[in-house]
Amino acid sequence: MSDIPVITVDGPSGTGKGTICSYLADWLHWHFLDSGALYRVLALAAEKHHIANDDEVALGRLAGDLNVEFKVAEAGSLVEVVLDGQVVTDQIRTETCGNAASLIAPIASVRQALLARQRAFHQAPGLIADGRDMGTVVFPEATLKIYLTASAEERAKRRYKQLKEKGISANLRDLSAAIAERDERDSTRAISPLKPAEDAIVIDTSLLDIDAVLANISELVRHKVPGLPK
Ligand code: DC
Repeated sequence: MSDIPVITVDGPSGTGKGTICSYLADWLHWHFLDSGALYRVLALAAEKHHIANDDEVALGRLAGDLNVEFKVAEAGSLVEVVLDGQVVTDQIRTETCGNAASLIAPIASVRQALLARQRAFHQAPGLIADGRDMGTVVFPEATLKIYLTASAEERAKRRYKQLKEKGISANLRDLSAAIAERDERDSTRAISPLKPAEDAIVIDTSLLDIDAVLANISELVRHKVPGLPK
């Protein structure tokens, strides 16, 4: 393991992972790996190439050949996701794409092909890695491992609010059911299931607002990483 620090933030969707990781990457001026975006881009590419979500050989090959770029203005904030030269930043954010990503994520050849790509983000001055298996599989020797959790009900409410704010119509009951189904699939798969690493610090965000979570995590980061900017 190199001396370059890594902070992993794992957990199911709707726990505030994305917001927290962007904040940390901006604050520290570190690189940011949004591993979920990689699985989402792969799902989109598979759809484009008419590859079925159970075609393990074709999906593994596609994951290896994936022509994806994460265009960032500077170390830190994620700006654009580009697939085969086309900006797909918004397209990959839909519920359908998230669900398709979760369907192909259990495939061993896919996870294997994406492993090296994810580890390539580990560059100076440091990395914030957001996902499901960042602390358990991709960066097992991370400097600090955080696992965020929240009740399924609270996560569905947050997602509902987000969609409404974007002007997208949504139904809370349907969202709750979809979230529960995706959690179940992500946490019961045989390879790299969603679970906290043994040495992860688990934070339940159900009853906390985002500022409280950020304050808590910033304190942990200051404790683990010496010489940080104020
Ligand atoms: O974090 P997200 O909602 O963008 O992730 C979409 C799906 O991708 C998630 O339901 C499971 C899969 N995924 C994964 O298996 N491993 C990761 N490290 C990140 C995402």
